[in-house]
This record gives sequence, structure tokens and C-alpha cells, in this order.
Amino acid sequence: MWGGRFEAETDPRVHALNASIPFDRRLVREDLEGSLAHATMLGETGIIAPEDAEAIIAGLKALLADAEAGRLSFRLEDEDIHMNLERLLLERIGPVGGKLHTARSRNDQVALDLHLFVRRQAEAVVEKIRTLQRALLHQAEAHVETILPGYTHLKRAQPVSLAHHLLAYVWMLERDVRRFRAAQTAADVSPLGAGALAGTTHPIDPHRTAALLGLAGIYPNSIDAVSDRDFALDFLYAASMLMMHLSRLGEEIVLWASDEFGFVELPDAFATGSSIMPQKKNPDVFELTRAKSGRVFGHLFALLTVLKGLPLAYNKDLQEDKEGLFDTVDTVHRVLDVLAPAVETLRFRSEAMLRAVRESYANATELADYLVRKGVPFRDAHAAAGRLVRLAADRGVPLEGLPLEDFKAVSPLIGPDVYTVLDPVEAVRRRTSPGGTGFDEVRRQLAQARQAVDGP
Ligand code: ARG
Repeated sequence: MWGGRFEAETDPRVHALNASIPFDRRLVREDLEGSLAHATMLGETGIIAPEDAEAIIAGLKALLADAEAGRLSFRLEDEDIHMNLERLLLERIGPVGGKLHTARSRNDQVALDLHLFVRRQAEAVVEKIRTLQRALLHQAEAHVETILPGYTHLKRAQPVSLAHHLLAYVWMLERDVRRFRAAQTAADVSPLGAGALAGTTHPIDPHRTAALLGLAGIYPNSIDAVSDRDFALDFLYAASMLMMHLSRLGEEIVLWASDEFGFVELPDAFATGSSIMPQKKNPDVFELTRAKSGRVFGHLFALLTVLKGLPLAYNKDLQEDKEGLFDTVDTVHRVLDVLAPAVETLRFRSEAMLRAVRESYANATELADYLVRKGVPFRDAHAAAGRLVRLAADRGVPLEGLPLEDFKAVSPLIGPDVYTVLDPVEAVRRRTSPGGTGFDEVRRQLAQARQAVDGP
């Protein structure tokens, strides 16, 4: 493709390092779509003759059909997807195919392909996040009145509604959706027309090319247009944040499925066995969810590092933007694909959760708040409740297992109604503050989350 300037053949060892076709073949559709728009614009503006544009467009459409049928064969010596497709076009329609690359460089071409790819993938990921959110909502709807010990420092803290806990993940994922949408907006701009870096002498209409591709606008600066990979980083950051959230969810399910917690029964279809221990039912799906966050974070850092010292404008370093991005897309899809049905079919063991609440003094705050309602300053109430916890713990009984005289000995203000107050179900019901765990408040939140996920 650059034969004119060179006397000797490229050393084959250079191809092995330099060629991107082994991975950028994945951009075949985006590359052909970009070329179709470019050829259309070239014909419309009269930069090339309308009949030449028609021949090129027909050739590109035939290549697109072949690509979709998996009939294209690429060559390592042709370096990348752009040169491979140009060669295939020339083979198909003859020398007129050489007019396609008028007023274009591979630098604005590859940038365009990546914009189209990120825009498309962000949409696809959002769809799958929605499916996972619906699985969580479905579980939450069934578990508004299921009581779970809420934790701080991984110590049982206060009883909460299981729906409330699951909804926390729905809202995290909602913020992830916003971040993927932001990456999509960043990618929604066309670099085509920047040429190698300086623009072009041909009377192009880059707004037309952008419009043909459904892109919102063009870059105001051709040097920025070919150098910018912020939109890819935005996607990697959104993906990293998503994977961090999924990893936290994965970790909780691993904990909850453990023999020690026993809060959840893994569905057989989403659990794995052991080759030696017949009793085992392992949470591999959730462990891998946790682990795979690492490679996605790595891809974010790898691309940041590629870009950080890079002078303007295009440098071959930018070719390294692709593999990490592709692997991120694949990882995120693979994890979301399995997580949604796995979460959907988890069986929560309500009795075990309630037992954990009852065995844990997670109702000690209730006792302190009870005394506050009787006029005791919170700090004194906290101390009184603490003494009663110590007394109960010494006797190996829950707070509600102490006789009334013991309560009264610590604070004469305590009456027989303390036993209702200590009931964990009542404790949850009373937390009516906005965003709190009270059943009615959780039902209100569920409706709000449904609307965020499914639209009004
Ligand atoms: N394969 C290259 C990439 O992925 C395409 C652009 C190459 N441009 C160039 N002038 N070598 O970035």
C-alpha cells in the first residue's frame, strides 16, 4: 500500500508486531459503515464522479454482506482491517476502488471506527445492566418483609429489609447506566475529515458524513480528532466501575452462600461441584465475577498509560487502544449474561437471616432509641443499652430474653412495651425516614427504582 517509497520488502518479524488485523478484524462492520458514508459524501460533493461513488458503494455493500456471512479472508501482510478491506475492494471492483481513500487517512478512519464501536457497545452494555437490575428488582419485590442483619465492619449492626439491601445494588447499577451513556455521548462525534491530522485540501462535507452515520457532530479540531481516545477511556472507566459493583455483589453472594452465613441457596444451574468432595456446591460464578474486575481495571490503566506521554497527533501507540477495549467488552458481557439469571434464581433463606438477627443484639439501637423517646439523652441511653447487652451476653440470652426487673434495674423508665420495641420486624417497620428500611418506605423506593429501570 505504500510501495512507492520503498525498495525492500518488510521483514516478516515486523508484521508480527505491527499488524493489528488479528484483533481489529472485529471492526469490520464499523469500517465498512464508515467507508459507505465517506464514499457517499465524496460522490455528493463531486470530489469523485457519481458513477465511481456508485461502483464503490456497491462494492462495499457486497463486502458487508460477505463480512456478515463470514466469507472475508484477511492477510497479515495487509496490516490492519482498513488496508485489508481496501485490498478486497480493489480485487472486487478494480482500480476505481482506489478512489475511496481520497480525502481520508487511516488515522481519521480508525478513530471513526472506534467511535462507532464504543457507541454501539455502550448501548449493548446498558441493555444488559437493565436485565440484571430487573432480576434484582424481582427478588426485592418478593422480599420486602424478609429481615436480614444489616452489617457494618462485617458485624451484625441493625436489622434491615432484604429488598432494601438488594435495591442498593439497583441504584449503583443505575449510576453505571449513566456513566455508559456519558461514554456514548463522548463517542457520538465524527473525526472523519481530519485526514492524517491537518484536514484536507478537498472540498469535503464532514457534517454530511457525520449525519449519514447518525453521529451528533464533528470535532472542532482535526489534530484533536485523530488523537482523542477519551471516549474509549470513558467506556473503560464506566466498565471498571460496573465491574467493581458486580464484584461487591459477587463477594456478598459468596459470603452468603458460605456454610457460616447460609443466607442463600445457589441455584444448581449456576453453581459448580467439586471433583473430590461430593458435598460441595461452589459459587464459582460469583468468585469469577469478583476476579474478572481486575483485568478490566488493568485495561483502563493500560490505556491511560499508553496515552499519558503521547505527543500529538497520531502515533502507532494508539493501536494499543483496541485489545483491552475488546476484552473489556467481552468480559462485561460474559459476566452480565450469567449474573442476571443467577441472581433471578437465588433462593434466600429467610429463617437463617432472621435467626442471625435474633442471635446478634442487632436490636440494641432499638433499646437506646426507646429510652430517647422517654426523654433520656442519646449518650446515656447508649450506655444503658450497652450495659444490658453485656448482661444478656453474659447469660447467653438475647436482649428480649432478660426479665423486666433486669431492664428496670438499669433504667426505671423501661416498661413492658420494651419487648415489642425489641422485635426486629417492628424495628425495621419503624425506620420510616426517607431512603430508610421501613417496609412502606422500601415499597415506595421499589416503585421509584422500577420507574428508573423501565421508564415512566
Ligand atoms: N492499525 C492502525 C491503528 O489501529 C490504523 C491506523 C494506522 N495509521 C498509520 N498511519 N499507521 O491505529
